[in-house]
Amino acid sequence: MSVVKVLVVVASQTGRTARMAEAVAEGAREAGAEAVVLRAEDADPSELETADAVVLGSGVHMGGMESSMRAFFERAAPLWMQGRLVGKLGAAFVSAGAGARGGAELALLGLLANLAEHGMLLVPMHNRMEGFASAGCHWGPVAWTNPRSGKAGPTEDHLAACRAHGGWVAEQAARMGAPAA
Ligand SMILES: Cc1cc2nc3c(=O)[nH]c(=O)nc-3n(C[C@H](O)[C@H](O)[C@H](O)COP(=O)(O)O)c2cc1C
Repeated sequence: MSVVKVLVVVASQTGRTARMAEAVAEGAREAGAEAVVLRAEDADPSELETADAVVLGSGVHMGGMESSMRAFFERAAPLWMQGRLVGKLGAAFVSAGAGARGGAELALLGLLANLAEHGMLLVPMHNRMEGFASAGCHWGPVAWTNPRSGKAGPTEDHLAACRAHGGWVAEQAARMGAPAA
């Protein structure tokens, strides 16, 4: 396969998850991939077809993903009907205000479910990854952003986890080669 292409799509109202998205892309580039970051509200779903791996990021809103990400995936439904994303790799990350109780895990699962619906192969976060102790959730990196939690993120550790995850996803895409479908 030629150079791996990683597409990061992010929903971020106040910029915290957007900073994570840049770190994910940076990690992918360090691993030798081409990486592009798009905002969910502006992104054209056809961009998904050009990627080998798609990484979704969202601020947590009311225990789930932001509505602009949900709308993006509703716009992508025609790709599902044609199976255009089958076999590509997919991963996710979120930022959440409330430490551990704010629905971060539910939001991650919601994002990953979108990708699974398209037949994509999910890449979770493993516990040897840099930053796992602070931002680790096995579904993907989480930044805790409420200053009252004493760790207003994304912190350097959170961003390191995002870089590591972006690199890991790019490496897996390179290892897999082109999707079968
Ligand atoms: C409308 C709204 C709903 C939110 N709901 C939650 C929530 O359910 N759980 C949580 O932990 N944080 C919640 N937050 C906080 C955001 O997840 C948090 O500030 C996040 O870091 C914002 O990301 P962003 O800067 O990328 O927009 C909410 C924020 C807004 C504006």
